[in-house]
Amino acid sequence: MTEVPASTADYAALARARLPEDVWHYLNGGAGDEVTLAANVSAFRRLAVRPRVLVDVRRRDATTRVLGTALAAPIGVAPMAYHRLAHPDGEAATARAAAAEGLLMIASTFASRPIEEVAAAAPGRVWFQIYCFRDHGLTDELIKRAEEAGCRALVLTADTPLMGWRDRDIRHRFLLPDGVEAANLRGLAGPGDDLAAVTRDLLDPGVTWTAVERIRGVTDLPVVLKGVLTAEDAALAVECGVSGVIVSNHGGRQLDGAIAALDALAEVAGAICHLSERVEVYLDGGVRRGIDVLKALALGARAVFVGRPVLWGLAAAGEEGARGVLRLLKAELDVAMALSGRPAVAELGRDAVCPAGGCS
Ligand code: FNR
Ligand code: LAC
Repeated sequence: MTEVPASTADYAALARARLPEDVWHYLNGGAGDEVTLAANVSAFRRLAVRPRVLVDVRRRDATTRVLGTALAAPIGVAPMAYHRLAHPDGEAATARAAAAEGLLMIASTFASRPIEEVAAAAPGRVWFQIYCFRDHGLTDELIKRAEEAGCRALVLTADTPLMGWRDRDIRHRFLLPDGVEAANLRGLAGPGDDLAAVTRDLLDPGVTWTAVERIRGVTDLPVVLKGVLTAEDAALAVECGVSGVIVSNHGGRQLDGAIAALDALAEVAGAICHLSERVEVYLDGGVRRGIDVLKALALGARAVFVGRPVLWGLAAAGEEGARGVLRLLKAELDVAMALSGRPAVAELGRDAVCPAGGCS
């Protein structure tokens, strides 16, 4: 009998069995000792839920809106490079999976399918992630392409002036394999290329806050800043006129030792609601269960983005697998809402959680 995957961890096991060793390590690894990678996950376990009982939970409502887009649940796919490493159908399959579940996907600048194809696979449900390139012309050209393709927002990743120190990629001498290229950047990253070198050549390590204003000047799309972990940077982001921030440490792939995403969330959300009601706060990093979504919302996130688990699903069974992971997270969230007596995500607040090990 073939077992049915019951959790995202089950999809990880299926993915691991299918992927080449070096690809598995690139997709799943973090920087350095992977302290931050582990902390992203364990931070959710250090937070407990305070369930309320005898609440009528016949109707549960997980729907929300992010920058005006209606979502079936407060979940999206985080931007990740090179989905074709996981499955030949790549980002088009992931985008279709997200759309089929009424969710949203952020396509990476380093996607292995062109943004036009990805956006067409999930009309109205794709945002585009950008980096600040040394070549402003190239950055602006990508922004124009994303606009024309119908992307609904731009996500500027701020935590990558250069690539983190990734032991696993160094150890396995990870290079892009045949058939995988940066499809938005024809010729600039393809088979045989070392990603740290690609990043070093393309990304501007001198980028500062003026870039956010520059980018806002060349697009009418809302700009979301990804990689904010402190109240200070949240305040600067608000000053620069962003429409949203993603509390994120890049899934522990950049600065090892950085604060866990969930641990930074309350500080960032607190700073933003104090300064502006118009800026939306999201989180990515370590979301593996529906209950994690509930906990992040309780601490002030409007939605969460999920990274590696979606690639596990994609590697396990293409579009169906990616969809299976998203469906699992939605179903788990639904059960968690019912059993915690919190049938409406819009009403989740700090009172829904406390430190695990006892409330003081
Ligand atoms: C990423 N991430 C990422 N972020 C980004 O802004 N641009 C990118 O191109 C990539 N590429 C990328 C590749 C892979 C293989 C992974 C796993 C991650 C980071 C991503 O958007 C997100 O911050 C984390 O993946 C969230 O953590 P979890 O959900 O993987 O724990
Ligand atoms: C990564 C880069 C591409 O995390 O953002 O692998």
